[in-house]
This record gives sequence, C-alpha cells and structure tokens, in this order.
Amino acid sequence: MFNGKALEGKVAIVTGAGQGIGAAIARAYGAQAAPVAVVDWDVEAAEQVAQSIRAAGGKAAAFKCDVADRAAVDAMVAAVATALGPVDVLVNNAGITRTAMLHKMSAHQWQQVIDVHLTGSFNCLQAVVGGMMERQRGWIINTVSTAGILGTIGQINYGSAKAGLIGFTKSAARELARYNIIVNCVAPGAATPMTETIRTDERFKQRTLDRIPLGRWAEPEEIAPLWVFLACEGASYVTGQLIGADGGMSIH
Ligand SMILES: NC(=O)c1ccc[n+]([C@@H]2O[C@H](COP(=O)([O-])OP(=O)(O)OC[C@H]3O[C@@H](n4cnc5c(N)ncnc54)[C@H](O)[C@@H]3O)[C@@H](O)[C@H]2O)c1
Repeated sequence: MFNGKALEGKVAIVTGAGQGIGAAIARAYGAQAAPVAVVDWDVEAAEQVAQSIRAAGGKAAAFKCDVADRAAVDAMVAAVATALGPVDVLVNNAGITRTAMLHKMSAHQWQQVIDVHLTGSFNCLQAVVGGMMERQRGWIINTVSTAGILGTIGQINYGSAKAGLIGFTKSAARELARYNIIVNCVAPGAATPMTETIRTDERFKQRTLDRIPLGRWAEPEEIAPLWVFLACEGASYVTGQLIGADGGMSIH
C-alpha cells in the first residue's frame, strides 16, 4: 500500500500505543520508516510494541506517560526529542472509558474521561506545537469516535470528550494552517479490549453490528493505514477533516 518510506525521517509520537489501535498505528508508522515514540502509561506494554517495531527493522522507543499530566507530557516530549529528534507527527490516541448511565455517573468518572481524551490531547498538542511552528511543518491526528458524532448510551463523558476533540481538530487546523501544520481526526471502529463488552455481550453485540453497514468490526491493522496517509505528503492538502474508519457506522 505504501512504499516503506512514506514517513521516512518523520519522528512520530503515538499515545496509547501499548495496545489496540495505537499499537497498530505505531507499527504501521515504524514500517514506513518513521522513528516512533510508543507512549503509554503502561510502559511494559509500550516496550513490547517498540521491540516488535525494532524486530521488524524499524526505529522505536517506549516512553511512560500519563497524557492527562501536563508535567509528565512535557518531560516525555523532551525525552523523545533527545532519543529520536524533534517531533513531526503527533497522534492523540490514548483513551479510556468509564461507563455509567448519566444520572448515576460520578463527577470522578466524568472528569477522568475528559482529562484523558480532551485535556490529554491539549497537553500533547501544546508540548509539540512550538517546535512544529518553528520548523513550519507538522501533522496532528486525533483519534475520535462515532460516539462524538452520533451520541451513545451510558458514556456521556466519552461522547462529550470525543465531540470536543472534533471541535479541537477543526480549531487547531484553522489556527495552525499558516504554519503548514496539518490537523485531522479519525473515528475508528475496531476490535480492541476497549470494545470487548459490546462485541461479546449478547445484549449489545447484534444491535451494534446492525448499525455498521459493513456488518463487522475491523482489526486495528486494517484501519491503521489511514493514520499513515494523514501523516504523509499525500495528505498535504487535507486539513480539519473528520474521517470515519468505522465500517460506515457514521454515515448520515
Ligand atoms: N476500538 C474502537 O472501536 C474505538 C472506537 C472509537 C474510538 N476509539 C478510540 O481509539 C483510541 C484507541 O482505542 P483502543 O480501542 O485501541 O483502546 P485500548 O483500550 O485497547 O487502548 C488504549 C491505550 O491507551 C492507554 N492509555 C489510556 N489512558 C492513558 C493515559 N492517560 N496516558 C497514556 N496512555 C493511556 C492504555 O494503557 C491503552 O494501551 C481511543 O482514543 C478510543 O477512544 C476506539
């Protein structure tokens, strides 16, 4: 699909890359010659992903970081610059769910999800954007969700955070275009630990599949090329866009 050099020399941070979609994006970036910072608060998982990229001939290092912690993010970005070089590509992908019906959701559950998805993405953006502005180049891709487009039951925190990230993407794209920084977001649907309950619990499984025109979940590896495309030269005139990699679930 790509020639193995599509991201040559572009240092990329992928957050939440210890498993799932983030791990698949990190591996796809490594396979396209990007030096990859595999960032996760689970550093053992991140190290395994980084090792798999190195074993496949790529360049990667693991970094422990809670994206919701601004000081930790600043330290991580400094460590990435020392180990791999200045950051060209940021993928804001780290995510959690804290599911509860809205009348029962605690303030803590609300805040945790907002902190990781929305504030975490802002923390990472601010930590890398100064260097991108100086160098007049950068690619930022935010992982959002159909929950932020269509709404969802039992996850008002998550739906709100992801809808917020769509506005975040559009605002950042407008503001950063003058610096030649490209900003887009992708709404995925894939088989990962995060989606295990809706994929396996009979109460949700068929109802969810019925809402996906392609009628199945993707594997993370199947959708990761979209994040490659959005970080490569082929996407040089695409910014501020929301793209679904969701089997058509968000067609409206
Ligand atoms: N799987 C899907 O179908 C789906 C659908 C829509 C959106 N998404 C979004 O895609 C992204 C990846 O989801 P996934 O399904 O691969 O999830 P996952 O749970 O498999 O992986 C998420 C990763 O993020 C890490 N993480 C969580 N909080 C963190 C933090 N504060 N700091 C650093 N790392 C942290 C976890 O340790 C984990 O490795 C998320 O933003 C999620 O909301 C997933």
